[in-house]
Amino acid sequence: MTVLLYGRPPAVFDPPAEAIQTSPLIPGSAALEDVAPGSAEAAVIYAPPGALERRAVLAHALRALKPGGRIDAMALKDKGGSRLKKELEAFGLTVVDEPKAHHRRCRATVHGRLTGLGEAIEAGAPRQVHETGLWSRPGVFAWDRIDAGTAMLAALLPPMKGAGADLGCGVGVLSEAVLTSTAVTRMTGVDLDRRAVEAARLNVTDSRASFDWADARTLPASGDLDFVVMNPPFHDGGQEDRRLGQAFVRKAAGMLKKGGALWMVANRHLPYEADLNEAFRRVRVVEESAGYKIFEAVK
Ligand SMILES: C[S@@+](CC[C@H](N)C(=O)[O-])C[C@H]1O[C@@H](n2cnc3c(N)ncnc32)[C@H](O)[C@@H]1O
Repeated sequence: MTVLLYGRPPAVFDPPAEAIQTSPLIPGSAALEDVAPGSAEAAVIYAPPGALERRAVLAHALRALKPGGRIDAMALKDKGGSRLKKELEAFGLTVVDEPKAHHRRCRATVHGRLTGLGEAIEAGAPRQVHETGLWSRPGVFAWDRIDAGTAMLAALLPPMKGAGADLGCGVGVLSEAVLTSTAVTRMTGVDLDRRAVEAARLNVTDSRASFDWADARTLPASGDLDFVVMNPPFHDGGQEDRRLGQAFVRKAAGMLKKGGALWMVANRHLPYEADLNEAFRRVRVVEESAGYKIFEAVK
């Protein structure tokens, strides 16, 4: 029996132990888009917060189900949960909806023809965004715009030299900025989101660049890089989590050689100074404006 799982539902929903994980945010998972149509008996979907992304995920899951297959989808009420029932009904399902642990849980069985799956899949698909000219798709960080903090750091970066990394690279905006320097020999972008990594590979075609789908926190502290650039994440599962960015700061320090430099942008209110000062020899605020801080930290 093939059971698909998308994301990590809280334990109160009894997520299946023997299931194929299909979240793009869990490195090594299968891609929901690649599951053969009509091949699965059940799908348990911890639905993402963005409407376009969520409807596309639900449509992909429904497409993957056999006739008689069951979908069990849940989301926090204020992160799309309150819209789940209507969204599933719009595909032609009869939905049983239940509130549970601040979530809405919606269950349905696939009988007969579903409607609107193609449109929802198309609306969440990868595309070259007109406004930015970059490949991206709903669900990816700042998918249809350039983040203001990223733009600020990209504009302030001095020419980099040698080998480096872009941690939490997204669709590759900072990587592209780094590679304008001919003195860069190699650059690796790393992101937890498979969709971002796929987009970065299309956006940044310079042969000095490579992109990996991985959790930056698990990378080896190689101590051999000349530079790291980053706009670190500060949300985990939709909730602010400062520890993520702090872990990125420590990881960047571990990856740099002595004298190597971290260039980083952060929202002004985030407390990274203590970690920066502990892990680096010299820390300087290069710019502070429009709600952002740009740091240069030398190991
Ligand atoms: C603030 S965004 C910056 C994206 C991109 N660098 C930019 O400037 O547009 C942070 C990025 O970190 C990624 N991310 C979150 N947690 C991560 C982790 N543990 N390891 C690697 N990347 C992560 C997110 O998917 C997101 O693309």
